[in-house]
Amino acid sequence: MTAIDDRRGDARAGTRTPLLRARNLVQEFPARAAGGVKGGVVHAVSNVSFDIYPGETLGVVGETGSGKSTLARSVIQAPRPKSGAVEFQGRDLMTLRRRDLKQARRQMQMVYQDPFGSLNPRWRVTELVEEPLRGYGEGNADSRRRRVAELLDLVGLDPSQYGRRRPFELSGGQCQRVAIARAIALDPALVIADEAVSSLDVLIQAQVLNLFEKLRRELDLSYLFIAHDLAMVKQVSDRVAVMYLGQLAEIGPAQDIYRRPLHPYTAALLESIPRVDPVTGTAHKPTALPGEPPSPIDPPSGCRFRTRCPRSQLRCAEVDPVLEERLPGHQVACHFPLDLPDPAMPPGPAGATLAPAPVPASATDPAPTAQTS
Ligand SMILES: Nc1ncnc2c1ncn2[C@@H]1O[C@H](COP(=O)(O)OP(=O)(O)O)[C@@H](O)[C@H]1O
Ligand code: SF4
Ligand SMILES: [Mg+2]
Repeated sequence: MTAIDDRRGDARAGTRTPLLRARNLVQEFPARAAGGVKGGVVHAVSNVSFDIYPGETLGVVGETGSGKSTLARSVIQAPRPKSGAVEFQGRDLMTLRRRDLKQARRQMQMVYQDPFGSLNPRWRVTELVEEPLRGYGEGNADSRRRRVAELLDLVGLDPSQYGRRRPFELSGGQCQRVAIARAIALDPALVIADEAVSSLDVLIQAQVLNLFEKLRRELDLSYLFIAHDLAMVKQVSDRVAVMYLGQLAEIGPAQDIYRRPLHPYTAALLESIPRVDPVTGTAHKPTALPGEPPSPIDPPSGCRFRTRCPRSQLRCAEVDPVLEERLPGHQVACHFPLDLPDPAMPPGPAGATLAPAPVPASATDPAPTAQTS
């Protein structure tokens, strides 16, 4: 039997085979490394499950510190998660030996946020793009040279103009194109973009997002696309996963998540984005998210969002909500999801309208770790 348990998978499991299946991933760090007390634990990723299908972009959003990067690193086993299962192209990555893991990693490449920091400053563009090919012993010097030129063309950099430059002779956007060329050099099936356009100017962001989209079509790639900007994630994602304090709050088709969020945290994130109503043209005044996220060293009991949630009830402090499918392909971890009639909830605003409200005191955990408003 495989290490993967299908019971908590995506609704489409069974109709298509996922490229990547992550189940119940847990990653923790000693709290001391994060400025906490000795013996404490940072609950960076707690029990996260999701699938990525071939050719699909799964967007992952959440505030800084919600565990997005740790989740990405857990997927590529760098370092291995504390527990859970990761199956990629049908192979269980958690039990692979180092050499086999290196081969599996050919097929899953990362693009990071800092375009300068991720490139060796002393190397020329051609050397940078050739390096993964050499690392995996691909071809000979001639074939690699041709492949590097082809890759630079693919990412929109003229090899004769940029090939001999070093990173400091490139703009941020050009550096990120080089990083993308490196990522696709070995023909991966999955690219994990961790805030890959977050540090670029808006115009350049759009160009690099277009490049990601072009490569997805031309190379049949799948993406795990991580960003803290919901509007950007919407542009590129087929499905979106919303992370809060190390857990998945909600996951579903991108349009559904934006049009009909079920989790109060997703709704609050949407309310915090300035936007214009496409029908009436009215500008929507953003509402800031109430309070700060609690510390992942000492997360609240039950639902981790309860210290900031206007819908919080006693049950939310007592029982950790599990991710459940409430609409087709749309899962939410909430006892009282928005937009679904719940007899336990008093009548009031539902849907995406979410005003900051006092959080009811919990009977079981009187000392919430976050400020509320
Ligand atoms: N190596 C580490 N040691 C200790 N704590 C860590 C380490 N890496 C990440 N963390 C903590 O784990 C939590 C999640 O971090 P991260 O995955 O970087 O979040 P995000 O990418 O969403 O900003 C944060 O509280 C962070 O401080
Ligand atoms: S489980 Fe309760 S506290 Fe958590 S998001 Fe849902 S309503 Fe809010
Ligand atoms: Mg991060």
